[in-house]
Amino acid sequence: MNKNTIAAADLRQDLDLTLDELRALLSLASEVKKRPREYAQALAGRALALLFEKPSLRTRLTFELAIQQLGGNAVTTIGMIGEREPLKDVARNLDRWTQGIVARVFSQDTIESLAVWSRVPVINALSDLYHPCQALADVQTIHERFGRWQGLKLAFAGDGNNVAHSLIFTAGRLGMHVSIGCPKSYSPNPALVAKARGMGISVDVTHDVAAAVDGAHVVYTDVWASMGQESESAERQRVFAPYQVNSTLMAKAASDAIFLHCLPAKRGQEVTDEVMESEGSAIFDQAENRLHAQKALLLMLID
Ligand code: CP
Ligand code: NVA
Repeated sequence: MNKNTIAAADLRQDLDLTLDELRALLSLASEVKKRPREYAQALAGRALALLFEKPSLRTRLTFELAIQQLGGNAVTTIGMIGEREPLKDVARNLDRWTQGIVARVFSQDTIESLAVWSRVPVINALSDLYHPCQALADVQTIHERFGRWQGLKLAFAGDGNNVAHSLIFTAGRLGMHVSIGCPKSYSPNPALVAKARGMGISVDVTHDVAAAVDGAHVVYTDVWASMGQESESAERQRVFAPYQVNSTLMAKAASDAIFLHCLPAKRGQEVTDEVMESEGSAIFDQAENRLHAQKALLLMLID
C-alpha cells in the first residue's frame, strides 16, 4: 500500500475515502500496528501542521506521535484559524512549509476552505459534522474484537453528533447496521442520514434507546454536550438522562457486546463508571488504535 493507491487528496470527511481505500487503510493500520519499526522512515523529510481550534488529548498526541514515529515532523498551533487573516492566506502559507494539514475546527466550512486553498492534503481532526479519524480507529477496534464488520449491529446512544455521523458513513459502509438511539430534537443530520440510506447504508434512528441497543454487538456513546455546547449542558443532562449507557441498557445488547466511547467521557452522565470499567469495555484499545489508524492514513495521503 502506498500513496499512489489513494485517489483522495484530503480527508475532509469519511466519504473522501472510497470503500476500497477504507478497507486498504484498515488493513495497513493492522500491519503498522504489528510492525511499527518498518515504517520508521516513511515520512522522513516531511512536515505536517496540526491546527487546533478546540482542546484535544488523543487526537493531538496520536497525530504528533504518529508523525514522529514515521520519521516526520509535526508542528502544532492552538487557537482560532482564520481570525488574524483569511483562511485562504493561512492555507497558502502552510502549503509552502508542510506536506499536510491536520485541523480540528468548529465549522466544517473551515476544513472545506483549507482544502480548497491548500495544495497539500487536509485531514479533518474533528468538526461540527464529522470525526473521521475517530471512526477509523473505532472500526479497527471492532474488527479486532469480532473478526468482521458485516452483519454486526452498532448502537449509538445519545446525541446524533459528529461522531455519530462518521460512524454512520464508516461503520455503515463496511456492512454494519447502525442504530442511533437519541432524543428527537438531537437526531443526526437528516440530510446525512438520507444520503447514507441512498448509498445503501443500513441506518435507523429511534428515540427508544432500548430498541437501538437490542441485540447490538457494539454499544457506543459520546458526551451529551460537545465542545462548544457547554452552555447547553444543564438542559442536555435533563433531556439525555434516559439515554445513559448503564448495566441495565448493556444487558439488552448481545452477550458478547463491547462498549466503545471516543473519550473524553463524563462518567455518571452518558455512561456509568461500571460500564466504562466492565469486561466488555474496549475504550483503551480504541484510543490506542487512533495512533495506528492515523499512521495508515498518513502513509496513504501524505506525499
Ligand atoms: N476522541 C478524541 O478525539 O479525543 P480528543 O478530544 O482528546 O482528541
Ligand atoms: N462530540 C465530541 C467528540 C469529542 C472527541 C465533541 O465534538 O466535543
